Order: sequence, then structure tokens, then C-alpha cells
Amino acid sequence: MRPEWAPLTVDLDRPSAARVWDFLLGGSHNFRVDRAFAREMMIQMPDAQVIARENRAFLRRAVRFLSEQGITQFLDIGSGIPTVGNVHEAARAVRPGARVVYVDNDPVAVTHGSALLKDDPNTLVIEGDLGSPGAFLGAGGAADLLDFTRPVAVLLLAVMHFVPDSADPAGIMAQIRERLAPGSYLVMVHGSAETDAHHAVQEMYQRTPTALTMRPRAEILRLFDGFELVAPGLVSPSDWRPEPPGEPVLKSPGYAGVGRL
Ligand SMILES: C[S@@+](CC[C@H](N)C(=O)[O-])C[C@H]1O[C@@H](n2cnc3c(N)ncnc32)[C@H](O)[C@@H]1O
Repeated sequence: MRPEWAPLTVDLDRPSAARVWDFLLGGSHNFRVDRAFAREMMIQMPDAQVIARENRAFLRRAVRFLSEQGITQFLDIGSGIPTVGNVHEAARAVRPGARVVYVDNDPVAVTHGSALLKDDPNTLVIEGDLGSPGAFLGAGGAADLLDFTRPVAVLLLAVMHFVPDSADPAGIMAQIRERLAPGSYLVMVHGSAETDAHHAVQEMYQRTPTALTMRPRAEILRLFDGFELVAPGLVSPSDWRPEPPGEPVLKSPGYAGVGRL
């Protein structure tokens, strides 16, 4: 049955990346089809929930780092269904006036995010497709809240691997980069299939509306073209400035980095 909060455009019969991720993070905006998919995935990757949490922990550390560098504007593309510790919360712990634009192409993510943030004048939630950044970067989109003549941090966390090679990921990155002022940042987490289990998960996603294209490290590195990676470079999300430093953590099947323009 369709719950009241679910927009009419939601497909209840096919799992969605946003809702599967919500389930892995312990959220409640998912359906039976998403939970079944996530459980099947956890047979291949029993650590899937830990990986999702590690990804969010990286997000919070990276946003705090950027806020400490003076960044007050954030553009979170493929932001997902809001959970605890969203970008605006992490940023405002350091910069109370931080402004954040959230973009996603999933109707549940957009509807729920808009409802949650409707009274917050310093956030904006937009329905948009990473495949066509020109459609949401300008006036009537992110530029309604963010001043692109000043530095902006663009976050692409666990979303670029939903962009197939045929959609020209390098071209998409160039369109985003050209919009940014010097001193802007790119934050990215990207999946990389390094075991049979990762390949099996990638295969599973082919039957969802969001097929996965995990990429080798060298290709992910190229997506940072034009940006200079800050230390420690492109590493497992849990190895990016861990807290406390040196704590043993799970190695996610992917890479995380923060680059400065
Ligand atoms: C794995 S979730 C990651 C969510 C969040 N960034 C995080 O790291 O916790 C991927 C998100 O990207 C969104 N997404 C996938 N393809 C997209 C596209 N082409 N344009 C915009 N969002 C997309 C999905 O709807 C989903 O919310």
C-alpha cells in the first residue's frame, strides 16, 4: 500500500537507490521492494550498513573540514533522503549561517527533504538530474540560494557511480567545474568493484532504475581533473582524516577525496 508521505510518481514495484540507502542507514522512507533488495545485497556484502554509515561519517568530517576552511556554501547533488547529520547540520556546527542546496532525482528524497526544510530560508531542495547539471545550477535552481561568484563546495557522495559512461561523466564534471569560482571544492565518494561480491552487487543494480557503474581508482581520480586533492588524497572513505586518527575501521569498496579548485 502507498503510504501518505509517498508522492504519486513513486514506483512501488522497483527498488530505488535513495530508498535502499535510507533502509541501510536505518531510515523509514522505504518500501518492501527496497528492503528485499537491500537484504539480498547484504548476502553479497554483509557490511553494507556499515559501509553506508562510514560514508555518512566521511560526509560529516569533510563538511566540518571545509567549514573550517571558511566555506559557507554547499551544493549536495544526489543528497538522498534526509537522515541524521545532514550537510546543513554539520556545516552550521562551525558556520551557523551556512547555506545548503540539496539536489536529487528521487521523488521521495525531494518531497521529504522539502517538507523537512520548508521553514529554513538557508536551505533549498531541488529535483534535478546530475546528468544535466545546467538545468539546476543556474537561476531558478541552485543560484537562487548560492552565490557562484564565491567559493562553493560541491558534494557528490555515492552518486557519480549512477552515471553511466554513455552519459559522459567527464563532461558532467567539466560543466560543474566551469560554474565554480576559484577556491571552491569538490567532495566525492565513488564505488569501486574490487571483489566478486562487489561485481555481484553491481549486477543486482542493473534491474533497478539506477544501474551502477563502479570505476577503478584511476578513473575516479580523473573525475577530479582541475581540482587539487587535499591530504590524504583519494582513499577509502574511512581513511580520510579518521577520528580518532589511526582507529581501525572498515575499508569501503570505494574511494573518497576532497579537491580544491
Ligand atoms: C547511495 S545514495 C547516496 C545519498 C547521499 N549522497 C549519501 O552519501 O548519503 C545515492 C543518491 O543519488 C541519487 N541519484 C542517483 N542518480 C542520480 C542522478 N542522475 N541525479 C540526481 N540524483 C541521483 C539517488 O536518488 C540517491 O538519493
